[in-house]
Amino acid sequence: MIQLELESDRKMFEEALAFAREQVKRLIERQPDYYPVYTKDGKWKHEGPAWTHWCDGFLPGMMWLFHRRADNGGAESRYWLDQAVRYTKPLEARKQDRDIHDLGFVFLPTYYRWFQKTKEPALNEVLVEAGRTLALRFREKGQYLRSFVAENSLFIDIMMNVGLIFYAARETGDRKLRDIALRHSLTTRRFLVRGDGSTAHEGIFDLETGEFLREATHQGWRSDSCWARGLSWAMYGFSTCYEYSRDPRFLHTATACADYYITHAPGDGVPPWDFSAPLESRKLLDTSAAAIAAAGLLRLSRLLHDPIKGHFYWSTANHILHNLCQKHLARGDKKWEGILKGGVYHIHKDLGVNESVMWGDYFLVEALEHATR
Ligand code: GLY
Repeated sequence: MIQLELESDRKMFEEALAFAREQVKRLIERQPDYYPVYTKDGKWKHEGPAWTHWCDGFLPGMMWLFHRRADNGGAESRYWLDQAVRYTKPLEARKQDRDIHDLGFVFLPTYYRWFQKTKEPALNEVLVEAGRTLALRFREKGQYLRSFVAENSLFIDIMMNVGLIFYAARETGDRKLRDIALRHSLTTRRFLVRGDGSTAHEGIFDLETGEFLREATHQGWRSDSCWARGLSWAMYGFSTCYEYSRDPRFLHTATACADYYITHAPGDGVPPWDFSAPLESRKLLDTSAAAIAAAGLLRLSRLLHDPIKGHFYWSTANHILHNLCQKHLARGDKKWEGILKGGVYHIHKDLGVNESVMWGDYFLVEALEHATR
């Protein structure tokens, strides 16, 4: 019985990956060299604002994953390699971008994968420089990497980017870089992850003293709520942090976030946009948070020392992917250009609400690729 379920899920996931490849090919053909953020009525190209410039790594990131999967030297493999390189190269200048805290999102799905494939030192230099640039955001007073919005602001999302600093530290042996990554992660753990495993989106600090003042939010319902995507970023980000540091406190935090997610999400594993929003508002889901959670749980499942819990996370990730593929793929809607419907970018600014979002598509592909590897 279990074997049959595994086989039918595998078939479903392979079909979803084939659909994802079709949608990305269509995007390349219709809007060449365009890096979208979210759809409007299912269309990637529109005049809506991006709020912040953080998503350019996700489209080429999918191309690198498609290439790896087709890696047999055939035409399909060459096609994805050419596209991946074409969409990755223009990102190089972002290694000096000091305006955003999202350099991990830009470089880990792209230059990191390119370097893994070729081992060309010049590609690694790009990654190291990007990691050093990100580390410049560190504030001694408060011990955190400041968010893009203000000096006194720490975002939970930065946990997804701090891996780039750990990476640069490991490649160069620079202990100061590693120390920055560790101290930022410890601060985030202390102030943005609550005792029950839920997360705050933002922390506000006193610039003079470094004292933590209060929780806040931009994309969540309110300061003391649990914005679903923030929780998924934390679950995934602390898993990566544990992978680099092997500090058991980070594994503990990642599992606390995972357990909060699993116990508070509906039975199908696809959460409301904010776990604490009023009942009526909780009908609005965020499928991107589910895709990130599935990818995070798959990573976490290999890191745990307890095989029973590891298997539980692995099968929960498969269950989430099953439901995303069954209920939320855009496959039946010929006019829709994204892969996964039902993501939410910024509800208060009315950006990408109940739409496809580039990171939702990317993490769905990453998780499907991992689950079928
Ligand atoms: N800025 C990252 C996010 O919207 O999740």
